[in-house]
Amino acid sequence: MKVLGIETSCDDTASAVVDSDHGVLSSLVSSQLSTHAKFGGVVPEVAAREHLEHIDFIVRSSLSEANVSLKDLDAIAITQGPGLIGSLLIGICYAKGLATSSGIRLIPVDHVHAHVHGAFLSAQIKNETIQFPCAAFVVSGGHCNLYYMENPLDFQLMAVTIDDACGESFDKVAKLMGFTYPGGPIIEKLAQKGDANRFPMPRMIEEKSRLAFSYSGLKTHVVNQIRKLKTELSDQDRYDLAASFQEAALDQLVRKIESLRKIKPNTKSVVIAGGVAANSRLKEMITSRIKIPFHAPDLRFCSDNGAMIAAYGQALLIDNIASQTDEWDAYSRYNFSEYLT
Ligand code: KG4
Ligand code: ZN
Repeated sequence: MKVLGIETSCDDTASAVVDSDHGVLSSLVSSQLSTHAKFGGVVPEVAAREHLEHIDFIVRSSLSEANVSLKDLDAIAITQGPGLIGSLLIGICYAKGLATSSGIRLIPVDHVHAHVHGAFLSAQIKNETIQFPCAAFVVSGGHCNLYYMENPLDFQLMAVTIDDACGESFDKVAKLMGFTYPGGPIIEKLAQKGDANRFPMPRMIEEKSRLAFSYSGLKTHVVNQIRKLKTELSDQDRYDLAASFQEAALDQLVRKIESLRKIKPNTKSVVIAGGVAANSRLKEMITSRIKIPFHAPDLRFCSDNGAMIAAYGQALLIDNIASQTDEWDAYSRYNFSEYLT
C-alpha cells in the first residue's frame, strides 16, 4: 500500500511517499526558515504564500523520487489541523484537487497525532517494537501533549500545556539572548559548554495528580536573571543560562513521565516526538531516569515532515477508520477542546 503524505501546517512544505512494504520511498521538505528569520518568528501570511509557491514542485518531486505515479497511490493523506489556517488551506485545497482529479482516496489527519506516527515509523525502520500501552509525548514549538496509548490509534490525551509549549520556551529564551528562530538547537549547543547549576531555575510544584505542563514561569525567570546581570551577556553567561534553562525545561518533561507512570503503572514504553525530541540531553535524561523502553525518532522524523502524515494516513486506512466523507475542511473534524485548557 502506497500513501502520499502532504504537510503544510506551519512553515515547512513537505511531501513523502510511504509504502507499507518498503518504508519511506521519498521524503522532501522545503524549509521557509530563512524567509521568516528576519521577522524573528513565522509570519502566517508569508508562510501561506510560500506554500503556494512550492507545494506543486515538492509533491511532484516526492512522487518522482519515489518512482511512483498517481495511479500507483492507494491514498493521499493531508494535514487537516491544527496549524496556521492559511498554511493549512493551501495544503488542503491542493490535496483535495489532486485527489478529486485523479480519483484517489483523501485522508485528513491530525498533525499532532501524526508526529507520534513519525516516531512509530522511525522505530519500524530501526526494527524496534513499541510495547503498548505507551506514554507518547509530542513536544514541539506549538504543542506539549502527553498521550496514553493502548494501541497505535488510541490517543488518550492526559496533559497539555497551560501556557507556552516546551519548544516555544526554547525559542523565546534563545531570542532573549539574541539568537534567531528556531532556538532549540542553539540552546542545546550553548548548553553543552555551560554550568547548569549556575542559575537556579524554578521547578513547577508537583501536585499529586497534576500532569499539565507550564513554561511561562521558567521563561519569565530567565528574563529576570538577564536583567539582574545588568551588564551585557558574556559568552559564558549565555552558556550557563542555556544549560540552566535547558535542564529545568527538560526535567519537567521527565517528571511528567514519572507522574504518568504513577497514574498508569501499566505503561510499558515511552515515545517522544516533535522538534524537541531532537534534543540529545532529553534523550540522556529519559534513558537514565525512566527504566522502561524508550523510543525517539531519527532527526528527519522529529520536525514536520510528510512521512509522518503518510504513515498515520496509512494506519487509519488499514484500520478502516479514515474519514469516508469529503465534507471536512481546515476548521472541522478535529477536536478543538483537546488543544484548549
Ligand atoms: O515539531 P516542530 O518542527 O514544529 C512544530 O510543529 O512546532 O518543532 C519545532 C520546535 C521549535 O520550537 C524548536 O526550537 C524545537 O522544536 N527544537 C528543539 C530542538 N530542535 C528543535 N528544542 C530543543 N532542542 C532541540 N535540539
Ligand atoms: Zn509539528
